[in-house]
Amino acid sequence: MSAHGVPTPLTAVKSGPLTGTADVPGDKSISHRSLIFGAMAVGETRITGLLEGQDVLDTGRAMQALGAEVTRHDDGTWTVQGVGVGGFSEPDHVIDCGNSGTGVRLLMGAVATHGFATTFTGDASLNSRPMARVTDPLALFGAEAVGRSRGRLPLTLVGACEPVPVRYATPVPSAQVKSAVLLAGLNAPGQTVVIEKEATRDHTERMLAGFGAEISTEVTDEGRVITLTGQPELRPQTIVVPRDPSSAAFPVCAALITEGSDVLVPNICLNPTRAGLFETLRDMGADLTYENLREEGGEPVADLRARFSPDMKGIEVPAERAASMIDEYPILSVVAANAEGVTYMPGVAELRVKESDRIDAMARGLEACGVTVEEGSDWWKVHGRGAGGVRGGGTVAARLDHRIAMSFLCLGFSAQNTVTVDDAGPIATSFPIFRPLMEQLGARFQDRQE
Ligand code: S3P
Repeated sequence: MSAHGVPTPLTAVKSGPLTGTADVPGDKSISHRSLIFGAMAVGETRITGLLEGQDVLDTGRAMQALGAEVTRHDDGTWTVQGVGVGGFSEPDHVIDCGNSGTGVRLLMGAVATHGFATTFTGDASLNSRPMARVTDPLALFGAEAVGRSRGRLPLTLVGACEPVPVRYATPVPSAQVKSAVLLAGLNAPGQTVVIEKEATRDHTERMLAGFGAEISTEVTDEGRVITLTGQPELRPQTIVVPRDPSSAAFPVCAALITEGSDVLVPNICLNPTRAGLFETLRDMGADLTYENLREEGGEPVADLRARFSPDMKGIEVPAERAASMIDEYPILSVVAANAEGVTYMPGVAELRVKESDRIDAMARGLEACGVTVEEGSDWWKVHGRGAGGVRGGGTVAARLDHRIAMSFLCLGFSAQNTVTVDDAGPIATSFPIFRPLMEQLGARFQDRQE
């Protein structure tokens, strides 16, 4: 049963060429952070291009519960009246973060150095995901967490009344963990230091600097050492959210594998900590070009043009690239199924603790569509069947995971038979306009499998 209401099965049908322009929504990571940092600034932050997906809306509601005023205006812009660092007040109800790991983990960081209790919950997917990776470092600030066994939600976090700054090396490559520690460090006196061995998405660092925090990153033998000076007065900002490379991945990859396609996906943020998929696709021989490459708001931005690429080859995806494309492995595996030869994806243990176990979810669904997959605890291999060579015909479980649902629907546009996902509801968490946007390019859906 879907946590988003009654399950809504959706079928993708072999489609003609996909053509035209795909205006994908705003970046999810930056949207969450815009609301949270806006709430911690003094005064009004104005946001345009905010992703109005369920995950981000849940974070907006949480900010209101903590005392900030969050308003959507008729022209589609959002404003946040911030309460300042240390200014949150105890919420009078449980904070429901829905499906969002980013939402709950960043919020736990934000309240960990406020001397009150907050109870968090989520949907069945979120309530099964590991939270100790965040509550362990937050305990070093003086916060206490009581949750279900193995650190699962629902969970109550009692924030530290007299927080101390911490120095913490993240044991897993996770921007959520890094960001939770930095958010807690905002309301601790002195310097909080986070050390990460592998670079993960750096939106928190970039945005906090933009809000006026003293934050620096040094690359050392230990890894990236990020130092934040606590208790700054954050200045409100005007934020234009760039378009989400993780959402762009779907029309881009669908075009690469669907015969005759030529799709333009404009204004995509190519921050190097996010662009690993596009590099990998080019390594596989994809006809994917960056047009109008430029810089906007300190980030590299380009219009992506993807054309049908019948000659793509399987490759070994460098393990050190994993963090920069961690959300894109499901759709990459769909491209790999349409390439010649084997695609080997090592160093991806984190895929097992996302909205679903994404290796297992994709492997079972690809097998149901006639594709051979091998897997280990932190690697998997997809045996490509060449362009248009995937049989399809399967009904696959989306497992409350938006990216699994969208990946299999994209597979269905090029497979020989239809591909059905048992519940397309979760797509609304990150890409609510996925279906009309793909239809506008020429993709075909059926509400029921025929
Ligand atoms: C995110 C970090 C990543 C990513 C998620 C968004 C963020 O998670 O998978 O979709 O905005 O910080 P991890 O930090 O667990 O790798």
